[in-house]
Amino acid sequence: MMCGLQLFCCSLLLIIAATLATAEASTSTFQSIKDGETIVSTDGTFELGFFTPAGASGNRYIGIWYKKISVTTVVWVANRETPLTDSSGILRITDPGILVLVNQNNTTVWSSNTSTTAPNAVAQLLDSGNLVVKDGSDKVDAEDEKYLWQSFDYPGDTLLAGMKLGRNTVTGFNWHLTSWRSPSDPSQGNFTFQHGPRGYAEQVLREGSDITFRTGPWNGIRFSGTPHLGPNYVYTYQLVFDDHDHEEYYSYKLLNSSVLSRLVLTQDGLLQRYTWIDRTQSWFLYLTAQMDNCDNYALCGAYGACNIENSPVCGCLKGFVPKFPKDWDTMDWSNGCVRKTPLACNGDKFLKYSGVKFPNTEQSWFNKSMNLKECEMECTRNCSCTAYSNLYISEGGTGCLMWFGDLIDMRNLTENGQDIYIRMAASEQGKLTHSKKEDLELPLFDLATIVSATSNFSNDNKLGEGGFGCVFKGMLRNGQEIAVKRLSKHSSQGVNEFKNEVTHIAKLQHRNLVKLLGCCIQADEMMLIYECMPNKSLDFFIFDQRKSMLLDWPKRFDIINGIARGLLYLHQDSRLRVIHRDLKAGNILLDNEFNPKISDFGLARSFGGNETVAETMRVVGTYGYMSPEYASDGFYSTKSDVFSFGVSVLEIISGKRNRGFSHPDHDLNLLGHAWNLYTEGRSIELLDTSVGDSTNPSEEVLRSIHVGLLCVQKDPEDRPSMSDVVRMLSGEGALSQPEKPGFYSKSSDRSENQVNHLSRACSANEVSFTLLDAR
Ligand SMILES: *[C@@H]1O[C@H](CO)[C@@H](O)[C@H](O)[C@H]1NC(C)=O
Ligand SMILES: *[C@@H]1O[C@H](CO)[C@@H](O)[C@H](O)[C@H]1NC(C)=O
Ligand SMILES: *[C@@H]1O[C@H](CO)[C@@H](O)[C@H](O)[C@H]1NC(C)=O
Ligand SMILES: *[C@@H]1O[C@H](CO)[C@@H](O)[C@H](O)[C@H]1NC(C)=O
Ligand SMILES: *[C@@H]1O[C@H](CO)[C@@H](O)[C@H](O)[C@H]1NC(C)=O
Ligand SMILES: *[C@@H]1O[C@H](CO)[C@@H](O)[C@H](O)[C@H]1NC(C)=O
Ligand SMILES: *[C@@H]1O[C@H](CO)[C@@H](O)[C@H](O)[C@H]1NC(C)=O
Ligand SMILES: *[C@@H]1O[C@H](CO)[C@@H](O)[C@H](O)[C@H]1NC(C)=O
Ligand SMILES: *[C@@H]1O[C@H](CO)[C@@H](O)[C@H](O)[C@H]1NC(C)=O
Ligand SMILES: *[C@@H]1O[C@H](CO)[C@@H](O)[C@H](O)[C@H]1NC(C)=O
Ligand SMILES: *[C@@H]1O[C@H](CO)[C@@H](O)[C@H](O)[C@H]1NC(C)=O
Repeated sequence: MMCGLQLFCCSLLLIIAATLATAEASTSTFQSIKDGETIVSTDGTFELGFFTPAGASGNRYIGIWYKKISVTTVVWVANRETPLTDSSGILRITDPGILVLVNQNNTTVWSSNTSTTAPNAVAQLLDSGNLVVKDGSDKVDAEDEKYLWQSFDYPGDTLLAGMKLGRNTVTGFNWHLTSWRSPSDPSQGNFTFQHGPRGYAEQVLREGSDITFRTGPWNGIRFSGTPHLGPNYVYTYQLVFDDHDHEEYYSYKLLNSSVLSRLVLTQDGLLQRYTWIDRTQSWFLYLTAQMDNCDNYALCGAYGACNIENSPVCGCLKGFVPKFPKDWDTMDWSNGCVRKTPLACNGDKFLKYSGVKFPNTEQSWFNKSMNLKECEMECTRNCSCTAYSNLYISEGGTGCLMWFGDLIDMRNLTENGQDIYIRMAASEQGKLTHSKKEDLELPLFDLATIVSATSNFSNDNKLGEGGFGCVFKGMLRNGQEIAVKRLSKHSSQGVNEFKNEVTHIAKLQHRNLVKLLGCCIQADEMMLIYECMPNKSLDFFIFDQRKSMLLDWPKRFDIINGIARGLLYLHQDSRLRVIHRDLKAGNILLDNEFNPKISDFGLARSFGGNETVAETMRVVGTYGYMSPEYASDGFYSTKSDVFSFGVSVLEIISGKRNRGFSHPDHDLNLLGHAWNLYTEGRSIELLDTSVGDSTNPSEEVLRSIHVGLLCVQKDPEDRPSMSDVVRMLSGEGALSQPEKPGFYSKSSDRSENQVNHLSRACSANEVSFTLLDAR
């Protein structure tokens, strides 16, 4: 009984609600309205009708305004340029679906001017404030309904939520704002606000044809020059690149649709957002896009930068001087600055400027998938490219934006500025960086990005653990897989050492080195973010009987050559010249095609000039791979890396670990065993049986063993350099006879305990980072 009653009540309510909805919906559509009548949107937010602006004696306009508030606020006007002079006007839908406004003599004073028409067309005022003309036979209000015409395509001075501000890149159609002439005159004033017609997306405000303000280019989250327009709790916004419809536009959405908020281009050329406050019954000025004097377009001219905290506000970029110093002295900065040293194109370098609003992108080019390095290369190649930067700021910076021609309208931003790299003559670059400490060039990742990429460092994502902390795998929102080394909070490595180390690794770029994508230093967290190598490390394969079968001889030879090239780059060709100090199979990562990449630069040291040997009191590394002079006396040099390389080569060929190698006939380690076979002319027996036989080019195998033995000779002086190694592996020239290896027998190794102790050694200066080394 109870149950039945409830059901009855519910259905009754539903019927009433449904009736009300249809009744209201029908009132928002119309065929024609006369002056004096109005149309209200279904939810009652907006109203359409005839009005006279305050102080505009007698002129009648068709417009849309907020219905529910006490202050009449018109957001759109149809006949802006053609007011009626009496109240005889009628707005109606003509037969083929055109909206016309006629006067008492039945003359059209305004029309919707559509080319697509339909016989049963009706007009409707939507809850968004959009006045649309649609095919009347369409009963359903589909979300993506194509309208015959809509007022949202022809904004006035007001941008409502859901309106577009942008362009169609094929038809050239442009959604833009135009100011009113005065509060009493809605006809077009002197100011427009629109998407730049060319180059990468940004928005410009013009007075007539002169630019007065730019937002700066879109950086994936906001416009470069308007950090104060960033995400907030009233509305969200985005820049849409709709490749299907060839549209590129800005639009915003209110987070709470019952909050009233609008963006207006005022008749004085200010771009302002207002939000309605019920309590005070008034519009609250939420923000003005133009922050200060520095937002006056090109105030400081080409290559000038405006800094509101300085007096005078204008200055030249480093390496530039005022074009006309006299004008500059009288605070006329409009002619800007010129280079102290002209560009030569060849050999030009790029100088980083941080914390700026990006210059005008009218002459620009962009690519969303290139990274900063590729961007630099592309810009270097084209002499008319004057600057480059990341396109988007998210995820440590992605994409490529390049400028051509003069750089105009830059300013300093105290918060949320961006980094730009400006082309400078090589000699100028030298002068500028000579005394100056180089910045941390590595992209900084946001902690929230890393937290979300690794599911908040979940155990499922953990790849390994070492003395420094843990390694997690993760995936960025763009689908890129990463490995994150998270320093333990108890690690004694300080921020400065961490940064110092990070800068060193960041500058190394080679296909046989694992790539560091960035770091994260935030809220007492310190992390390194690497590209992820899905196929783990070399030791995972070569020392496993079954998995080692995946590596045939040609693959192993490729791996040997790859490691050699990577190490050659470290020793000789990289800007820094680096000694790795911990080369081993576990530090060679493999990509999808089993290309080797050297990782783990935690122990690496760079050496300058002609210094090639150094000494340390603290020997860290991995026994079995360490050269005698390093393990016993702490001397390290490129030749100690060569020793480790030789050990790795013999391991790759034999599939056996140097340490822990055992043989029934003797007590030698792998090096000693290889040496014995070599002296007896039986080197080929060293080859891993899982490589298979007969088909292997034994000449290549024998040469590799020979090179390996040359690398592990006791005296560092006897060992070849990595450039010799690369040459020898390629079969060039005769090979000399190797001397007996250093660390020949097992007894020359140390105890297992010490290995563990040392490989996890952790002090302020030297921490063994062992990426992906899941022990
Ligand atoms: C309508 O026509 C009459 C007679 O031609 C003319 O006097 C009047 O000015 C016209 N009104 C408008 C609004 O054009
Ligand atoms: C006005 O013009 C339309 C179309 O030309 C016509 O259908 C309508 O009857 C006219 N109205 C008057 C009052 O003349
Ligand atoms: C109406 O169409 C004509 C011709 O296509 C065009 O020149 C004019 O600018 C259009 N007017 C409006 C208000 O769109
Ligand atoms: C528009 O610009 C012109 C020329 O500078 C000026 O005379 C006029 O007063 C301006 N109009 C408004 C509404 O500011
Ligand atoms: C939306 O705003 C209205 C009016 O300010 C308020 O009453 C309501 O609680 C808000 N809704 C949400 C979900 O915040
Ligand atoms: C302003 O920018 C210039 C050029 O990048 C830079 O040298 C200067 O330090 C910046 N000043 C401030 C206060 O950020
Ligand atoms: C953008 O860069 C990517 C990667 O370098 C390249 O594959 C692509 O062709 C580039 N796109 C354009 C339009 O140049
Ligand atoms: C440099 O870039 C500009 C603009 O994209 C292009 O027009 C020009 O052809 C390029 N020059 C070279 C040498 O690639
Ligand atoms: C991540 O985990 C930590 C500790 O387990 C917790 O305090 C924190 O709130 C989590 N953060 C997020 C964003 O889930
Ligand atoms: C290597 O990585 C690729 C891509 O992740 C995967 O498909 C393949 O199975 C991996 N190979 C091995 C042997 O793990
Ligand atoms: C290089 O060696 C020479 C002579 O051995 C020495 O005078 C010079 O200072 C060294 N240069 C550097 C940068 O170490």
